Amino acid sequence: MEGFNEKEGQLYVDDLPVSEIANNYSTPAFIYSASEIRNNFNKYTGALRKGDLICYAVKANSNIHILKELVDLGSGFDVVSGNELKRCIQAGADPKKIIFSGVAKSSEDLELAINEGIFSINIESEDEFDRVCNISQNLNKEVQCAIRINPDIPTGSHKYIETGLKTSKFGVGSETLQNISSKAKDKPLIKISGIACHIGSQISDNSLIIKSLEHLLDAQKLLIKDEHKLEFLDIGGGLGITYKEETPGNPESLILEILNKISALDLNIILEPGRSITGTAGILVSKVEYLKLTEHKNFAIIDAGMNDLMRPALYDAWHTVKEVKKRDLDKKIYELVGPVCESSDVLAKERELSISQGDFIAFMDAGAYGSVMSSNYNSRLKVPEILVNGSSAKLIKRRESFEDLIALETNL
Ligand code: LLP
Repeated sequence: MEGFNEKEGQLYVDDLPVSEIANNYSTPAFIYSASEIRNNFNKYTGALRKGDLICYAVKANSNIHILKELVDLGSGFDVVSGNELKRCIQAGADPKKIIFSGVAKSSEDLELAINEGIFSINIESEDEFDRVCNISQNLNKEVQCAIRINPDIPTGSHKYIETGLKTSKFGVGSETLQNISSKAKDKPLIKISGIACHIGSQISDNSLIIKSLEHLLDAQKLLIKDEHKLEFLDIGGGLGITYKEETPGNPESLILEILNKISALDLNIILEPGRSITGTAGILVSKVEYLKLTEHKNFAIIDAGMNDLMRPALYDAWHTVKEVKKRDLDKKIYELVGPVCESSDVLAKERELSISQGDFIAFMDAGAYGSVMSSNYNSRLKVPEILVNGSSAKLIKRRESFEDLIALETNL
């Protein structure tokens, strides 16, 4: 079996019962399915041509074992920090398949990227462009860049995950694009080879991304006037998944539509998917510590908190909750709350479940922006990650210990 599935009242990951893994590694724990990652990645690659590239957005889930799975599938990577770049290299990624996005690239991180000879630095401001010029000159190294434009397109997803509005910090407007393009003409070490764009996350409507492609094509005309030899368009990531009832994005039809629009041009495409690769490939398993039935609400107090899965507290996000082993108990409506001393420590509201103390439950679709966004708030220890491949489970991150927790604090 592949991915997460239910058999005889039990939740499975690939061929293993989730309850078995939870018993072996204790809870809370993130569990991932390698087959689901592969299937999700392959949805992107069917329609690609030679030279087109999928650069997985490392921020979604950056465990080096997950990156290694993607390296083996031929993926490139989109990084937003020097440390994400180092993770990719550690996982065996080819630097020639790595692009570097983000608005605040430090000089140190840019130096690392330039020395590694990565595929492209995606420039997000004129100041950054000047910095890249200085560093490349000091290192006397050629740098391939793309300019990330801001197309001012609302996506209608949560306001915290919109990135292509003119009021957002990402990308540049047409005036800055023109300035950078003009300046770059006199910089022999800088090759402006691409234009990039990423309008936001959890998008199910392909037409929004196609709209951003129109802006990329306008920008391309402007850069060509300045005689830059463009080689690629980076359309960004953003395709959504089904958390509740949303229509998931369709990678294949998106790519076919893009290729259709650019068929007359000699340009490769890059996409930067994150959530749509790892989102459905992970769950957070937790244990019911107590049931607290009050006259106003029934609380299921669980051992995972907002520090482990931050999305519900931060974006009011929905994660489907499943009983790991179905039991013959009365169903009740519960609010699932964690151990953190904050009223926002609610992982799910109004869920009908048959549970009792000690039962395991799973928060589905937690493979992207789950573990990576966790924290040590309340001195809680970061939880382990387990990668399942068929019938074998591998610990890919161990649970933190108290010693890990205080390791960076200087001696008293
Ligand atoms: N490329 C760039 C430049 C990005 O900023 C992002 C995500 C991606 C690609 C990948 O987007 P995806 O395919 O995953 O939608 N923490 C939020 C999501 C933040 C996304 C940030 N940027 C959440 O949990 O919903």
